[in-house]
Amino acid sequence: MSPSPQIPVRAAGAVTAMGTAVLLAACGGPHSALDPRSDAAAGIAQLWWLLLAVCLAVFVIVLGLYGWAVWRRRPGEEAEPTGGIVNLIVVGGAAVPALILLGLTAGTVVTSSRLDLADAGNGEELLEIEVVGHQFWWEVRYPGTGAVTANEIHVPAGRTVRVKLSSADVIHSFWVPQLHGKVDMTPGRTSELVLAPREPGVYRGFCSEFCGVQHALMGMLVVAQAPDDFEAWLEEQARPAEPPSDQLRRAGESVFVDKECHFCHTVRGRDFGASPATSATATGPDLTHLGSRRTLAAGTLDNGREALATWVVDPAAVKPGARMPSTAMSDEEVEALVAYLEGLR
Ligand code: CUA
Repeated sequence: MSPSPQIPVRAAGAVTAMGTAVLLAACGGPHSALDPRSDAAAGIAQLWWLLLAVCLAVFVIVLGLYGWAVWRRRPGEEAEPTGGIVNLIVVGGAAVPALILLGLTAGTVVTSSRLDLADAGNGEELLEIEVVGHQFWWEVRYPGTGAVTANEIHVPAGRTVRVKLSSADVIHSFWVPQLHGKVDMTPGRTSELVLAPREPGVYRGFCSEFCGVQHALMGMLVVAQAPDDFEAWLEEQARPAEPPSDQLRRAGESVFVDKECHFCHTVRGRDFGASPATSATATGPDLTHLGSRRTLAAGTLDNGREALATWVVDPAAVKPGARMPSTAMSDEEVEALVAYLEGLR
């Protein structure tokens, strides 16, 4: 008696169902380019679905023809090349694929050329933001306002923002899947993209070009706010830091200077005396309003007291290969420093 065919069929069914579930789960959420929240990203997603549909159709037709040929073949039968077969090869093997590839190329060229136009607004003057890639974080500048922040790009929702991209060290790549395609950030070059989220929301972005040990943890957030909220946020960020408000925070600021944090980090409005770094060449993020940010260490930790303490004492424990050195500090010093940093709002 032959074994029941039920078991392999069931197993295949289960694998297919699981595979489909995994595939569908990958189609949504903040990491998915197939869950677009801007016109540019929607264009990219449409192109992706078109490519998938055409490739699937070709795959099914070719496999079908192959199966048909195998099924029809009789043992000992030799096929003689006839005029019909030659025509089939010329049409099916060259002409049709060439037409399909040309069509897909045209679709790709049209979508790419529309990417920036899709969101480019109606001749309105666009807000411009500069984003500089560093190993392993993102510097974000709002020209003309003095506001400088890191790893968190605020934009007004429903409006178009021009983002100028560059790099301070190696090649990075700016990618916010729900808002746009990837754009490389190359040292010595400025590239550009437009961000135009349709609705307020928080969108996750990544570095998508291998740039060193911490490439995988080089994340950021794009926070799209209602235009009024955005204006208020920008005004806050442009303000210099207030002097520390209490004893503990004053002590924390002293720790900040004693431990030479200001060599790499700027706190606008506070003069810590001579340091090798100026805001233009600082190798670490501007900390003027650190306390107002959602994350630390380029999207790796949720900002808060505990996370700050963990991060400043031993960055390598959070991100091996991070450029910030670990610093020997007493518990009191850590407490004061964290209070100071948290108070930078
Ligand atoms: Cu920066 Cu990968």
